[in-house]
Amino acid sequence: MTEPDQPYTQDPRFWRAGAIATSIFMSLVLAALTIDTLRQITPGGPRVPSYDVINNSVTYEYDSTRAEYVPKIGGEELIFGHRYSADEADDLIGKGKLVIQSRACIDCHTFFGNGGYYAPDLTRAWTDPIWMRYPGPRRADKLVKFLMHPLRLGSRAMPDLNIQRAEAEALVAYLKWMSSVDGNGFPDRFGAVSGQ
Ligand code: HEC
Repeated sequence: MTEPDQPYTQDPRFWRAGAIATSIFMSLVLAALTIDTLRQITPGGPRVPSYDVINNSVTYEYDSTRAEYVPKIGGEELIFGHRYSADEADDLIGKGKLVIQSRACIDCHTFFGNGGYYAPDLTRAWTDPIWMRYPGPRRADKLVKFLMHPLRLGSRAMPDLNIQRAEAEALVAYLKWMSSVDGNGFPDRFGAVSGQ
């Protein structure tokens, strides 16, 4: 208890009430931010297209309003001559993720900057100028071929990981989908071997 002539800042109840009010308020802010983040990062949300985006063209273009490069989703551009339904695209990309995990691509590569810095970041591999030389459908085939039998592009070679065709197709679908994710201006293609 405080004496009547003591300032309220001397009263522990003031600080206790302040701490409780701040904790409740910040918990609500945290919950709101978490819900918003989940909405933003869930496939089909504002920044992460749903998996069937693999049926569309995906390019990476400069947005003068945002002053950064952003993925642009265009019209239909099929890979492997097939239009994937939402379920098929989910399965294929789920498989691509398993192949990525089983072959430990991130021992050498990064996705969104996470992983090893031995080989180039793969977040925008689909829109890498090396592959952009080929129109969409051919690019998918070229990437499959590269993943199955890597040829040397820069100063370090990608090892042959004994990837089978079905696995390579799943990987390419995964890479195409990932290129469509809005990374909020996160730099792309850093660590490209040819640039060293
Ligand atoms: C032992 C290290 C290593 C592992 C593991 C590895 N890579 Fe690579 N990868 C490289 C290197 C090095 C290059 C650069 C090759 C070059 O420039 O000739 C490369 C290049 C690539 C490229 C072309 C680069 C580009 O910008 O398009 C792709 C795509 C790729 N790797 C995908 C994968 C995938 C998918 C996996 C897993 C299934 C994987 N890599 C596993 C080392 C690795």
